[in-house]
Amino acid sequence: MSEQKYLLEMKNIVKTFPGVQALRGVDLRVAPGEIHALMGENGAGKSTLMKCLIGIHPPTSGEIFFDGNKIEIANTQQAIQAGIAMIHQELNPVESRPVMENLWLGREPKNKFGLVDHKKMYEMSKEVLAQIDLNVDPRTEMRELSVAKIQMIEIAKAISYDAKLIIMDEPTSALTNKEVDQLFIIMRKLKAAGKSLIYISHKLDEVYEITDRITVFRDGQYIGDEDTDKLTVDKLIHMMVGRNVDEMFPKVPCCIGDVRLEVKNLTAGNTFKDVSFSVRKGEILGIAGLVGAGRTEVIEAIFGIRHITSGEILIEGQKVTINNSRDAIKNGMALLTEDRRTDGIFPMLSILDNMTTSNIGKYRNKAGLLKGKEMVADGKKFVEALAIKTPGLYQQMQNLSGGNMQKVLVARWLLTEPDILFLDEPTRGIDVGAKSEIHKIITNLAGQGKSIIMVSSELPEVMGMSDRIMVMHEGKLTGILENTKDLTQTEIMKYATGTVKEKTA
Ligand SMILES: Nc1ncnc2c1ncn2[C@@H]1O[C@H](COP(=O)(O)OP(=O)(O)OP(=O)(O)O)[C@@H](O)[C@H]1O
Ligand SMILES: [Mg+2]
Repeated sequence: MSEQKYLLEMKNIVKTFPGVQALRGVDLRVAPGEIHALMGENGAGKSTLMKCLIGIHPPTSGEIFFDGNKIEIANTQQAIQAGIAMIHQELNPVESRPVMENLWLGREPKNKFGLVDHKKMYEMSKEVLAQIDLNVDPRTEMRELSVAKIQMIEIAKAISYDAKLIIMDEPTSALTNKEVDQLFIIMRKLKAAGKSLIYISHKLDEVYEITDRITVFRDGQYIGDEDTDKLTVDKLIHMMVGRNVDEMFPKVPCCIGDVRLEVKNLTAGNTFKDVSFSVRKGEILGIAGLVGAGRTEVIEAIFGIRHITSGEILIEGQKVTINNSRDAIKNGMALLTEDRRTDGIFPMLSILDNMTTSNIGKYRNKAGLLKGKEMVADGKKFVEALAIKTPGLYQQMQNLSGGNMQKVLVARWLLTEPDILFLDEPTRGIDVGAKSEIHKIITNLAGQGKSIIMVSSELPEVMGMSDRIMVMHEGKLTGILENTKDLTQTEIMKYATGTVKEKTA
């Protein structure tokens, strides 16, 4: 086979970290002009292989051929020179600097005096942002942007290198549907221009929509690659997980008790208005809506981290005042935030510390000493239940794969044993196998009488898990739907897009 057949060929790549064999001799072949999906469970080795390719982690052994030549790339600068750009799973923009400086960091246009030409940089930035239809002023500071916008800036940056191969490591996890559509348009354009793309995602529907071929890894091993349109979903999941994943939404009907939380006419300035609903003991209330509908904002407001301008919150019929997250926790609430990449991860601390930090009081005895054994027992329980891939509880958080870090945060909030649990996109970035484990845990918590409020952009997840679904559109409650089993996605979308305006419950 001639070398021209593939733009990229990685052969028998091995990567060992202390105590972890991340890659056990994997192969990857990407043809020119192809969108190639890299799939596998959390910790399978996808990001690591890409980091081996672009010189962040040199592979322990193996060979890489790119564009007809054998290459050894020592750093990202060399990768870019060779024609490979990557959009990382964990974003770290320079928060205090404007968008344009982030775009051209290290390659700023210079004037004839050798100084940074800000005017030119501004113009160049406008051009790049226009290419992806992104309406952001290049002078805006990065910290003012939403995660989605930061993600789009990263995408613009990768495109601006004019690379032959662009790697996208879970680029859509923070994007709205509209932005995902936009990204797909850009991806198709790049493909038409002969570029190759590697696309990493846990969202099966996206992978089927946009990719030509799929390579699957499991546990640091190459399992196979196939044309996307020839690979059935069942076979793909089996390749990834090594077993059939049973029932995606194991909802078991349980007895729903009295009202625990009640929210009356809650308003937060212009963000959302007049939201009223209640949640019972043992109930899972799903909140559906498009990104920007105000779902996250409502739960943040109840949790005391967003200012309420009017309205009231009652727990067990008693009015409560919640001014911050401490008040919320005292009132038996817990919140798993949507923005987990940047929120609440302590990268240098161990998994166990990251799990127990919100609940450390529980592990102190009367003398104030830590009850190490109980902590470790709880830690082990969740590592097992959520299949967190790690050599041990004392591994530093930063050494975990993206999805496994998220599982640790899920464990943290479950460990606080709250009465009222808010979950914002609880399975984002989490692989299919662990997803159903998390669904089981949520259902069990409801079975124990906890009240769960879950925001999810995945309609099948909301529909499969919830007892009732509350739908929001542009800061207003448009409906509270019962009999979730009989609902269709189209019906929910009617409420989510504001086609149906009046409240029903
Ligand atoms: N710097 C590191 N030190 C030690 N172990 C590491 C390091 N980086 C990654 N690992 C381990 O290597 C394995 C593969 O991780 P990787 O990030 O490649 O997974 P992934 O397939 O990208 O998963 P996800 O879907 O969660 O992003 C994991 O077990 C991870 O904990
Ligand atoms: Mg990864």
